[in-house]
Amino acid sequence: MAKSGTVFVCRVCGFEAPRWQGRCPSCQEWNSFEEHRIAVRVPRHGGAGAPGSRPVTLADVEVPNVVRGQSGFAELDSVLGGGFVPGSLVLLGGEPGIGKSTLALQVSLARFESVLYVSGEESAAQVKLRAERVGPKSRLKVLAETDVDAVLEAVLQERPELVVVDSVQTMYSQEVAGVSGGVAQVTGAVQKILSLAKSLHVTFLLIGHVTKDGYLAGPKTLEHMVDTVLYLEGERFASFRLLRCVKNRFGPTNEVGVFEMAGEGMREVSNPSELFLEQSGVDASGNVVTAVLEGSRALLLEVQALTSSSSFGYPKRTAAGFDPNRLQLIVAILTKRAQVNLSAHDLYVNVVGGVKVTEPAADLAVALAVASSLKEQVVKQTLVLGELGLSGEVRAVPNLEKRLKEAGKLGFTRAICPLQKNLPKVKNLELVLVRTLKEAMAAL
Ligand code: TYD
Ligand code: MG
Repeated sequence: MAKSGTVFVCRVCGFEAPRWQGRCPSCQEWNSFEEHRIAVRVPRHGGAGAPGSRPVTLADVEVPNVVRGQSGFAELDSVLGGGFVPGSLVLLGGEPGIGKSTLALQVSLARFESVLYVSGEESAAQVKLRAERVGPKSRLKVLAETDVDAVLEAVLQERPELVVVDSVQTMYSQEVAGVSGGVAQVTGAVQKILSLAKSLHVTFLLIGHVTKDGYLAGPKTLEHMVDTVLYLEGERFASFRLLRCVKNRFGPTNEVGVFEMAGEGMREVSNPSELFLEQSGVDASGNVVTAVLEGSRALLLEVQALTSSSSFGYPKRTAAGFDPNRLQLIVAILTKRAQVNLSAHDLYVNVVGGVKVTEPAADLAVALAVASSLKEQVVKQTLVLGELGLSGEVRAVPNLEKRLKEAGKLGFTRAICPLQKNLPKVKNLELVLVRTLKEAMAAL
């Protein structure tokens, strides 16, 4: 499909408008529209747009036998759904300094014979310095270039299997109008990369920046153009990194890879629960362990709460790694349904390890951590699971068996969990079944 003309695209949310506007009607951002010329054919893999394309019955479509390329990291391969699919575009996003370049370079070094590493941000010498830190001496080919046409020229000559582009925001083409790093330039560059990737069956790993709100910088259209979108996240000053897949045309999107940033680059973590609970030997009140699901596996995490008497009329509620609004709700349930009075206490909740917990299954653990801190009760070797309802009832959690098994593996002897159907049996793990928050507090 060939289109031409101009549209104005919001830099933040990707909203398209035929005319320039001062404020984006979709995301309310001021002065975010950029002119975007569309005159490029977007070829898809042998599909829409190919000349002479004709409808076919699905039964007659031949699926080529794809051999996925391995990255050298089992965690990354499983997030990708089994490795890189040849000819696919993988976008790796994340905040600055989180370790995107390091991970991409390690992948490149692991299979250097067939990789071209394009650096638009660092010089070849800087890449070498980093490479010396993270891997053995290698004959990896590096190209320090920001002109996408020159990059594609080099790809045509070198014929690598994998091309790393660090970062896609630095790529520009003289044939496309617009400032470097702008919507038009980035989309134009990715469109060029896309058509080459599909015709040569070269895999591209594109590194992308995220804005302060956590969106991939550049238009949303970038996410639509690529096959796979990965996010590397974590607290900058904690060493854990979670690699999450938010879009995958060639596999499931619920896998999560866990890495640790070490002195010699990123290291895979195959037993994350152990790592997260490593320092939790302290028997203090307010610490409760829960299990959250990340992809297809359960992670044990410690929730910490601290209550201290407030010197203001309006007590403070602060949460790190947990939704503050959900915390307010839990405080209300505690007050009303379990007579835990927090009106004169400041409350701080923290999830250890810099992990963000979004699952309601952690509600009960947060509530019990708060109660434990207020009553100065220590909770030992106990896993707490359950979603809290407004009437103080403890609701069922999905995949209970997986969570309990993980706790059993790590030597937990007791689990407080909702009374639900199909309760699994786990060796050496006593189940304390509760229906309400009050019962759970009594079980402490
Ligand atoms: P980097 O990969 O440059 O981040 P990004 O490309 O996502 O912006 O990672 C930079 C950080 O990682 C920096 O703060 C230093 C740290 N680091 C290590 O801790 N160990 C290492 O081996 C390397 C190469 C970097
Ligand atoms: Mg970088």
